[in-house]
Amino acid sequence: MYICVCNGINERQVSAAIEGGAAKVSEIYRANGCAPRCGQCVPQMRQALDRRAVEAYDAD
Ligand code: FES
Repeated sequence: MYICVCNGINERQVSAAIEGGAAKVSEIYRANGCAPRCGQCVPQMRQALDRRAVEAYDAD
């Protein structure tokens, strides 16, 4: 499923960017070689980052 329709970034690509070290929404775009356009996907990007932070916390 696409998270960012403007840039064609799907869930897998968002996860890969986070796994690759993206810690901010802007870094997810950068990892995919693009920049935000309409901004509608930003909340979902933030949720993905928050989920990852919670998972990392739970793993400790
Ligand atoms: S949906 Fe991501 S910038 Fe528009």
